[in-house]
Amino acid sequence: MASRRRIGILTGGGDCPGLNAVIRAVVLSAASGMGWEVLGIEDGFDGLLHDRIRPLESDDVRGILTQGGTILGTTNRGNPFAWPVERDGRREVIDASRTVLKRLETLRLDALLVIGGDGTLHIADALCRMGAPIVGIPKTIDNDISATDVTFGFDTARLTATEAIDKLHTTAESHHRIMVVETMGRNAGWIALESGIAGGANSVLIPEVPFRIEVVAQAIEERAARGRRFSIVVVSEGAVQVGGAQVVQEEGGPGRLPRLGGIGQQVAAALGDVTGRETRCTVLGHLQRGGSPTPFDRLLATRFGVRAVECVMENRQGQMVALRGPSVVAVPISEAIAEPKRVAPDGELARTARELGISLGDEV
Ligand code: F6P
Repeated sequence: MASRRRIGILTGGGDCPGLNAVIRAVVLSAASGMGWEVLGIEDGFDGLLHDRIRPLESDDVRGILTQGGTILGTTNRGNPFAWPVERDGRREVIDASRTVLKRLETLRLDALLVIGGDGTLHIADALCRMGAPIVGIPKTIDNDISATDVTFGFDTARLTATEAIDKLHTTAESHHRIMVVETMGRNAGWIALESGIAGGANSVLIPEVPFRIEVVAQAIEERAARGRRFSIVVVSEGAVQVGGAQVVQEEGGPGRLPRLGGIGQQVAAALGDVTGRETRCTVLGHLQRGGSPTPFDRLLATRFGVRAVECVMENRQGQMVALRGPSVVAVPISEAIAEPKRVAPDGELARTARELGISLGDEV
């Protein structure tokens, strides 16, 4: 049997379906399989700094494979390099990264498994450079991490968005309306474009292809001239008009990205004005982050969890697990986060959409 090791695991950033499947896989393979100690750290780096840590055994992960969310809790405001504290009644932002390192030492962790998206993996990379023994596990519904073919969470979010488009189709057709659907995805248009193609949308607006409202309106009118009096327009929350800026719900701050949202409503209002047609907007929002993970996401998350434990065994700290073709491999975290993964405006997926007659809002 391998020597008894002690590993910590935390989930950081926005949640997504499949996080519990990773936690389960790690606990089953490390604790039950190899006899290692597994410590669950609550609410990302918050739990490490505030000592909210508990041992995880196989009984703790029973029944969680099918559950969305994370039994450990998470936060997308927990960056140790920009840590908000109260001092003398005033709020300050400090660098708590050295405290994180000390905590890892005190806990005598052989490795810390950090499950996170782009933001959390950047934090993990910076901590690794300071000597933290981290193994990264990518997650996000946005699918914007280039080192891996796909992240878990994305398939479930895409299913939710596709099902929503399917449902909106019937009511759009009955009422001869333009239905605008706003999806998440931050600066990446994967959820919008893939669910738009899978759901048979007529226009898809994504951050990677700035749009003109007149172009979208013209595509709708041309459809109407062919007797199709309704249209479905999928808008990614990060989509921008040519020469415009992203629509923000809440400005960012230290360690916090701006919260996007609202472009769907703007597009719906503008299309109503330009076409004179009845228009409605549905914002899918956090529905895309919830629910039971699809079999694909359960499987990928489970493979990532098992491979991450193998990485610890192989002393591959500083690496992140990633899907490449048929295999789950390990790549340096620094390499994995170097470039975000975006939809290529002239790539195969965008071309597929265009060739089906789906308007991306940049050309008719
Ligand atoms: O990164 C995942 C994500 O759901 C994005 O698609 C979205 O922009 C953001 O998180 C929403 O964050 P919050 O949960 O803070 O509203």
